[in-house]
Amino acid sequence: MKRVLLCGSNGLLGQQLALSLSVRADLEVLNTGRQRSFVFDHHLFDYTQLDLTQRGDVRSLISSFQPDVVINTVAAVDVDWCELHHEQAWQGNVATAEHLAEACRKTGAHLIHYSTDYVFDGRQGPYDESARPGPVNYYGKTKLAAENALLAAGVRTAILRVSLLFGSGTGVKGNFGLKTVRMLREGTIVRATNDIGTNPTHIADAADAAVACLERGTTGLYHVSGATFATRYEFARTLANVFGYDPALVQLVNAGDLRLPAARPPSTGFRLDKAGRELDYRPMTLDHACRRFKDELFHLSTN
Ligand SMILES: NC(=O)c1ccc[n+]([C@@H]2O[C@H](COP(=O)([O-])OP(=O)(O)OC[C@H]3O[C@@H](n4cnc5c(N)ncnc54)[C@H](OP(=O)(O)O)[C@@H]3O)[C@@H](O)[C@H]2O)c1
Repeated sequence: MKRVLLCGSNGLLGQQLALSLSVRADLEVLNTGRQRSFVFDHHLFDYTQLDLTQRGDVRSLISSFQPDVVINTVAAVDVDWCELHHEQAWQGNVATAEHLAEACRKTGAHLIHYSTDYVFDGRQGPYDESARPGPVNYYGKTKLAAENALLAAGVRTAILRVSLLFGSGTGVKGNFGLKTVRMLREGTIVRATNDIGTNPTHIADAADAAVACLERGTTGLYHVSGATFATRYEFARTLANVFGYDPALVQLVNAGDLRLPAARPPSTGFRLDKAGRELDYRPMTLDHACRRFKDELFHLSTN
């Protein structure tokens, strides 16, 4: 029986992983999060509070639980907030990863860590794993620094770069997919740009990649996004079509008109060949992923 410590279990991807791992009889899973309580408290899940900025707490939990595998979904993911709060962004994205790496190196645990397409400048996508990073905003800089810290730490680590996660969850902060669906449902105009694009990734695909690494003991860097490249405008229009809302509610704007504090890499997107070969990673097309998203939201609203 493998012991798994999941970090960030209350987050968007963390909730998906908590559910995926909970059905595995061959795993003993301890969920952790910054909050005192767990969103799935009414289920029979093991959960303990853990703030990854607290180095001593990370060390002592890992040394007492002795996980075989640690999965890290924790991050400060709000790109504009990171641009305005450098110190907290560094603590949330880099210090947290360093604390895990240090503790995992001591116990020999396998560390599976999530990163982002925002490590790239977005001028020459789609990118494979050998492409040279060049972040254009502070969030991307911190995520790249975390990757480098893990690679330098001498820990067995798999780094999974994902892009534009979407999916449903309990009390999750709005992701682009969820926000768009909420606005379309209310009949509100969605302003979206064709100047920024990547492969939107359903959280189920992102979670499957970690499970594949866990099963295989994989280490190294992997690009694991959805199968289809789309600009924000195309993604929003796809959601409108799949959910049956009026596509005319999605209106085209220039990225500059959105006046965002942080610069965005214009066109990232990933080549997925390595993950396909080595992890048997077969993500959904955008259309398929949006249909699944619709089914999940419908299921949530009727339960
Ligand atoms: N979302 C995207 O579009 C996207 C795109 C590319 C890559 N990624 C990467 O994918 C991973 C998962 O992202 P996500 O969208 O699932 O993020 P999320 O929904 O914001 O979840 C992150 C979780 O981490 C927790 N957390 C933050 N700081 C913590 C700390 N110091 N100690 C313990 N927990 C802490 C948060 O807790 P609170 O609820 O208390 O804040 C939250 O539950 C991240 O590595 C992110 O960089 C995300």
